[in-house]
Amino acid sequence: MRGLILAAVSLLTLVASARPNQLETRGHCLTNDDAYALANAFKDLINLPFNRTLAKAALVPSFKDYSDSVNELINAGCPNGPAPLTAPTFTSRAAFIAGQSGQSPIPFEILNIWNNCEELTVRWRSSQPAKGVPTEVFPEEVVTGILAIEVVPNPGGEFAFQIQTVFSEFNSGAWLYDLVCPSRAVT
Ligand SMILES: *[C@@H]1O[C@H](CO)[C@@H](O)[C@H](O)[C@H]1NC(C)=O
Repeated sequence: MRGLILAAVSLLTLVASARPNQLETRGHCLTNDDAYALANAFKDLINLPFNRTLAKAALVPSFKDYSDSVNELINAGCPNGPAPLTAPTFTSRAAFIAGQSGQSPIPFEILNIWNNCEELTVRWRSSQPAKGVPTEVFPEEVVTGILAIEVVPNPGGEFAFQIQTVFSEFNSGAWLYDLVCPSRAVT
């Protein structure tokens, strides 16, 4: 019995050490305020006129963005399109800036932000564009999505952490409808 308990305890220790939390062991953990600031910075990069300074402050140069939802839209739902499924949508901060700066703001609101030591998760929903702000889509169908965001410490920077990786998935069927079927203009 005692041997069994010892075996169970050492198994638990093994499992724990197999998944070390690197930031935690270094004494750096994302706070709720850090998570809120980064989630809103990422939101601003998408739904305000593009701000290159903000992109450089909030994203690491080796930033990666994975989104099969976006790749599917780039491919217009067709196989063998230019953005293979499972491939990163953006492979660097420079690529993100190049792609995103050419796009009109996309209006959405943050519904939830959850965070742990080194990740944050954001749930969002499309919203009506502000009056007079040009927009990429005409949100007739509500689009809901989730962002899982990995961060790294950024000592001395505008943000205490920077975004390393974004995994972004959303209702691309509804988005496609909004892109191709708008029946009214935003005034
Ligand atoms: C762009 O982002 C930077 C860095 O956060 C900020 O200081 C600046 O005010 C922003 N510019 C605009 C026009 O919002």
